[in-house]
Amino acid sequence: MRTHYCGAVTSADIDSTIALCGWAHRRRDHGGVIFIDLRDLKGTVQVVVDPDTPEAFALAEDVRGEFVLRVVGRVRARPAGTENPNLPTGMVEVLTQSLEVLNPSLTPPFQLDDEHIHENIRLQYRYLDLRREPMQRNLRLRYRVAKLMRDYLDQHGFMEIETPMLTRSTPEGARDYLVPSRVHDGMFYALPQSPQLFKQLLMVSGFDRYFQITKCFRDEDLRADRQPEFTQVDLETSFLGEEEIMTLVEGMIRDVFGKALEVELPNPFPRLTYAEAMRRYGSDKPDLRVTLELTELTDVMRDVDFKVFSGPANDAGGRVAALRVPGGAEFSRGEIDAWTEFVKIYGARGLAWIKVNQRAQGRDGLQSPIVKNLHDAALTETLARTGAQDGDILFFGADKAKVVNDALGALRSRIGHDKGYLDGRAWAPLWVVDFPMFEWNEDEQRWDALHHPFTSPKDGHEDYLADNPGAALSKAYDMVLNGWEVGGGSVRIHREAVQEKVFAALNIGPNERREKFGFLLDALQYGAPPHGGLAFGLDRLVTLMAGAESIRDVIAFPKTQRASCLMTSAPNAVDEKQLRELHIRLRNPPAAG
Ligand code: AMO
Ligand code: AMP
Repeated sequence: MRTHYCGAVTSADIDSTIALCGWAHRRRDHGGVIFIDLRDLKGTVQVVVDPDTPEAFALAEDVRGEFVLRVVGRVRARPAGTENPNLPTGMVEVLTQSLEVLNPSLTPPFQLDDEHIHENIRLQYRYLDLRREPMQRNLRLRYRVAKLMRDYLDQHGFMEIETPMLTRSTPEGARDYLVPSRVHDGMFYALPQSPQLFKQLLMVSGFDRYFQITKCFRDEDLRADRQPEFTQVDLETSFLGEEEIMTLVEGMIRDVFGKALEVELPNPFPRLTYAEAMRRYGSDKPDLRVTLELTELTDVMRDVDFKVFSGPANDAGGRVAALRVPGGAEFSRGEIDAWTEFVKIYGARGLAWIKVNQRAQGRDGLQSPIVKNLHDAALTETLARTGAQDGDILFFGADKAKVVNDALGALRSRIGHDKGYLDGRAWAPLWVVDFPMFEWNEDEQRWDALHHPFTSPKDGHEDYLADNPGAALSKAYDMVLNGWEVGGGSVRIHREAVQEKVFAALNIGPNERREKFGFLLDALQYGAPPHGGLAFGLDRLVTLMAGAESIRDVIAFPKTQRASCLMTSAPNAVDEKQLRELHIRLRNPPAAG
């Protein structure tokens, strides 16, 4: 059928007769000669059909975009002046001897090299969208990254083992996707949010080093970096501590970046404790390329006569902090208003600011809606701590610590990228370590596990579990790249007594423990080795490596923000017979659309 790939025809093939198969990318009629850019997986090559081959010429006249063709012809150098040095095949063309239309095509709903196709159209005709070069490139990169990771893990003694998709709920903190059981009336399987429990059990079984490139399912609010089903590169090891696990997987990421992108990442990656990350960046996944930082002012604002600041400053869970933007005094009112609206998304109630026009003039050199509310000492300390210079602006957040961190952390990133406060690096990987064990759930007035309930407390922190859960730190670590959490893991609890204490701190009672995790607690009593691991979000990692905007661009058949597939129209209503078999009666008729 074919002797060469279109994209692989070169000057070395000049004068040979070759056979090509592919899609008509473009067809141009140059008065008497027809040019077809024939495209396949490897690229395009220019095919020339002239009237000397009347049969081929007649067919070529009817060829339209995306027709599937087979061409036999002779390779020749392009006439001087018509070469295209930007194309790998740009020095040659193929003079057609015979042409065959293997299959015609309807007119595609979009031009394949259009760069502004609405995403919904792309998703509806995903098989056409995937023909486009950027998508082909992304999926090739995805394959390459997965292959490199698999190779690295294989070389380091890891063995891939599959774990069930039809299982019980695993607590990663999202809602489960449930699958009704036909055999067990009224019972449901849960699709795994991760293989967490199974991989721990595999360590109990003595497999020592496990990995799996596998789908995980989470029913959560979707964003640019989240899909309801996504792929983890999941791994677990026995008898390794935090340091060793981090070194091992960091080596893997360096290896992958070196081989797939020819990028040399730092060795070792810098580390930040969770506490420092929150203090300086308001985020546990800071983009370290952004040069702006937060300044702590909680202690400074305790006795000011401004409730907006003194309230949170005197509240145990409150925080007051500033974001200094050098040169920001020139930001317009409109820009400041837009950022004030922006921080509201994160729950902030306002965005106080001070423009430092002439610091030497003290109060009179400042322009701000709030300086009148701050006494001299607070003002002086604010300027000193932030290191504000003439021409700077300071933005303030005052609220519950979480609101301040979320709001100023997001603002830092937004201003950093929009206004170019960047250090010029392409890649800023880091580890965030020493996460707290628990986070306070304000709505339900209880402690939640920050990672998952199987995460081991730091040595010496076991004692806090009962009396002061908020102070307990864990052996958890996240890998962060350019502001995205690309991987996370921890050393696990391997002794049942400690696991029981953590369940107690989480207010998971004995019955619930048995009911949900009885099999794990049992297993921990049969000689569970010390173990720990991590999981990478493959989709996120590849998105960053590809320079894509959304993880949808590195997934062959992704779902929309509303968790539907526009191509297959999933999810869909099912017929009554199927529901009856599954013992299900709907509360409402299926929602349209
Ligand atoms: P975690 O919940 O942090 O850890 O998940 C690991 C990594 O998976 C990616 N990720 C996602 N990617 C796309 N869409 C999503 N909805 C989504 N959710 C998570 C992130 C994240 O860092 N069992 C633990 C790992 C462990 O402790 O070993 C776990 O699942 O990049
Ligand atoms: P007000 O006293 O409500 O007029 O607010 C004075 C300034 O403080 C305005 O610029 C508000 O945007 C800002 N502000 C109000 N609440 C907060 C808050 N919780 N954190 C930071 N700034 C705030």
